[in-house]
Amino acid sequence: MAGRMTESDFFQNLDSPVPKGLENRLNRLVKKRKAGWPMAYLLGKKEFWSLEFKVNRWVFIPRPETELVVEKVLSLPLPEKPRILDVGTGSGNIAIALAKELPSARVIASDLSKRALKIARENARKNQVKNVEFVQSNLLYFFLKSNLLFDLIVSNPPYVAEKEWKKLDRPVRDFEPKRALVAGPSGLEIIEKLIKQAWFCLKPGGYLVMEIGATQEKTVLELFSSGWGQMEILPDYSGLPRVFSARKD
Ligand SMILES: C[S@@+](CC[C@H](N)C(=O)[O-])C[C@H]1O[C@@H](n2cnc3c(N)ncnc32)[C@H](O)[C@@H]1O
Repeated sequence: MAGRMTESDFFQNLDSPVPKGLENRLNRLVKKRKAGWPMAYLLGKKEFWSLEFKVNRWVFIPRPETELVVEKVLSLPLPEKPRILDVGTGSGNIAIALAKELPSARVIASDLSKRALKIARENARKNQVKNVEFVQSNLLYFFLKSNLLFDLIVSNPPYVAEKEWKKLDRPVRDFEPKRALVAGPSGLEIIEKLIKQAWFCLKPGGYLVMEIGATQEKTVLELFSSGWGQMEILPDYSGLPRVFSARKD
């Protein structure tokens, strides 16, 4: 068969011999899978919020529990044309899902990683969203220097402690970017900075919604000083505390 074989070509030609090129490609994929590569990296894509996202080894693979972050944001009383900032956007999954759901929002997606931003941009094009812009920034440093204030800051930040990372499942530890997962020795280093910086980048009444580690609930609560209210922690599908939301007073 000339050209690249599609899935339907494959099933319509089950009796024909597998073309050599395809056989080699499949063998390479099987070898990688056996070596522990996550399926999403082999397929080059992952579904999130019923949208398809391109992924490669430079980005964290979107997880189902992060959809709860999107759900929480959509339940908030945001203004008609909210300004939203997604910190640590990775593949762009949260920012793009929100941009789709809230077409009148202006969404900025930021990440420290240029390579992640490249994938996130591709994903915005792929999913035909035009209301997302991309900015490289170390946490909120870029925005602290600008005059931009947001109605909502959302993030699924790195929150794993260095020691815990060593105990993670091999496919995660060996293949997903360490910088997307590990925050430092305690795991709370990024969340702590994010909370401090977010206060200065939010409008009064603006919200911070974050994904947190399952055992971090109490410590995260303590990181919020006066000046914040409406603190809420929502459980994930396993009943573990996972989504933290707070409002700047
Ligand atoms: C857990 S991943 C989340 C990716 C995506 N938002 C999601 O929910 O699937 C964390 C992301 O934060 C980014 N990151 C890590 N440290 C950062 C920093 N200091 N400033 C900005 N982004 C950072 C990583 O590059 C990674 O894309």
